[in-house]
Amino acid sequence: MQGPATSFTVAVSPACRSSREIVMATYAETSRLLLTPHRFIVIAGPGDITRESTDAIVNAANSSLMGGGGVDGAIHRAGGPAILQACEAIVARQGRLPAGKAVATTAGRLAAKYVIHTVGPIWSGGDSDEPATLASCHTESIRVADELLLHTIAFPAISTGVYGYPVKLAAEVAIAAAAEALALAATVREIKFVLFDSYTVRQFMQAAKSYADSKSLILDSYHAS
Ligand code: APR
Repeated sequence: MQGPATSFTVAVSPACRSSREIVMATYAETSRLLLTPHRFIVIAGPGDITRESTDAIVNAANSSLMGGGGVDGAIHRAGGPAILQACEAIVARQGRLPAGKAVATTAGRLAAKYVIHTVGPIWSGGDSDEPATLASCHTESIRVADELLLHTIAFPAISTGVYGYPVKLAAEVAIAAAAEALALAATVREIKFVLFDSYTVRQFMQAAKSYADSKSLILDSYHAS
């Protein structure tokens, strides 16, 4: 699978220059799904979520919370041992984390303040509540961010790597669940999907476009020059 590209400067049309946060973005592609002018979902990539400076980044963990490969391994490597220590304390206190639930820890050396760990469903054909569990990962992560009074949170494409969830289907669930939770959130105002490869970016862009069309919402799109 193709990894993230190096930084791009996003070129935007003059009509879009009022959106500072988009002008400053450094992804090949960025889209923004507006629920309101101050409450929106950003889809960005290819990119590495460990470099995000949102208030929290979400980790696609497993129930042991002891780390693993993929984005989980990248977050533990970049954030350092404080994250694992905090995970061990959580497991000692409350046991393994069930799929669809979320807990927060320090982000260690990362730019984000917190890592919110959630456990996605393992894809087994789609008839084992995978969509509901994946939606819950997003709803619960946003609920935890709200409890911490956070404003911005970044998600990877949960379950679409080792756990085998088809990216197109996961994107549809993730966008809808994030939008519904964002509409009800107390403090969270921006949800950012930071996607590792071009194929996943395209699938999330398409899911956002379909969601925007179905709800008559605005989707801004920007491309690197
Ligand atoms: N930034 C953003 N996305 C990333 C990064 C990164 N640094 N590294 C990997 N990804 C992407 C993958 O390309 C994939 O699209 O995250 C998505 C989720 O893939 P996985 O990390 O494999 O997560 P998941 O499918 O949920 O499987 C979870 O993997 O490593 C283990 O401990 C983890 O057992 C758990 C399982």
